[in-house]
Amino acid sequence: MLGKEQNKKNEKEIKPIIAVTMATSRQGLGVVKELSNTNKYKIRAITRNIKNPKALELSSLENVELVEGDLMDPKSLNKAFKGVQVIFGNTTPTKGWRIFRGSIVRNYEIEQGLNLINQVKIAYKKGELNHFIFSSICKPKDPLKNEPAPGHFSSKWDIEEYIKLQGISKLTTVLRPVSYFENFENKLPGYSISKSFFPGIVGNKTKWQTIAVGDVGKWVRGVLQKPEKYRGRSINIAGEELTGDQMALTLQKLLSSAEIKSNYIMIPRIIIKLLEYDIGLMADWIERSGYGADMYKLKEIQKELEIKPTTLEDWLKSKLIKDSKSNKSFTDPWKSFQWKLQLDK
Ligand SMILES: NC(=O)c1ccc[n+]([C@@H]2O[C@H](COP(=O)([O-])OP(=O)(O)OC[C@H]3O[C@@H](n4cnc5c(N)ncnc54)[C@H](OP(=O)(O)O)[C@@H]3O)[C@@H](O)[C@H]2O)c1
Repeated sequence: MLGKEQNKKNEKEIKPIIAVTMATSRQGLGVVKELSNTNKYKIRAITRNIKNPKALELSSLENVELVEGDLMDPKSLNKAFKGVQVIFGNTTPTKGWRIFRGSIVRNYEIEQGLNLINQVKIAYKKGELNHFIFSSICKPKDPLKNEPAPGHFSSKWDIEEYIKLQGISKLTTVLRPVSYFENFENKLPGYSISKSFFPGIVGNKTKWQTIAVGDVGKWVRGVLQKPEKYRGRSINIAGEELTGDQMALTLQKLLSSAEIKSNYIMIPRIIIKLLEYDIGLMADWIERSGYGADMYKLKEIQKELEIKPTTLEDWLKSKLIKDSKSNKSFTDPWKSFQWKLQLDK
């Protein structure tokens, strides 16, 4: 009996430690949850405020410990990275919204990126760190049509360049996600998702690569299975490539009533540019070049790494089920789906 307990204790002790920056972000939450479920790692979830509700939610998960850290404060990162074998790092361009500026600030993100990479390098030199996974953003399908690129894209690509400059490319896997499905849950009055409307930021015929944010976690789990192969590589990751019309059709097919027609609606570019200019630039960029994930090649890698991508249909269904459970309305769950989204405005 004692022997068994000792074995269990030893197993626990040898679990590699993974630090996750911005653990309370949408990406971070997905990564922490996915890794926690594997029961193979100890996860150091880094947040600026260990008392915030999202952080507390994480602290209740198996194998997760909360650690304070701010990407703008190198000392806090240095401390948070002590003794870790793996780091998942991401950055944010988002500061408080200001008129004539919006909330996206390129330099804010670059500063975080430089702090992050410098501290990753220091941890690597100390000798225990053996894998760094950086979350960037998908590169363009047509590089000749890249300019002008949105500031919050070029900031991430500049951080990728800094990784090379610091000589830690071979330690690093760069994951480059495309737009999240979660953006369709925007709270813009008149442009929220409902039975009849599927809102998007590009034209209805534009092919648009998208991903469920939680799938970033699946990719992290996947590349950690084969570090020798995936260190030193960059992968554009996506789950779907659909036009707006096809997305609306996916929604339509899930509706119980055939009488309701789901239409894709494009949020006028002028509204987007007034609210958040860089997102307007991003919409121009998606229409001009588009994300460059190789959907065919991704299927092979997903198979190898045991990643089952979330389809848009799965994602819409999960929203529906979650909502119908909380409202106990099983007769017309789509009504409650719409109702919830209206409330979210
Ligand atoms: N939206 C999309 O479609 C999309 C697609 C691909 C990539 N991305 C990129 O993915 C990245 C992450 O986005 P997200 O949507 O997952 O983030 P998010 O949900 O907006 O979360 C932002 C988080 O960042 C943390 N944070 C803010 N400033 C910080 C700082 N100085 N140091 C440490 N943490 C800080 C905050 O956590 P605490 O307050 O707990 O510290 C907050 O939880 C962004 O760079 C975004 O551009 C977005």
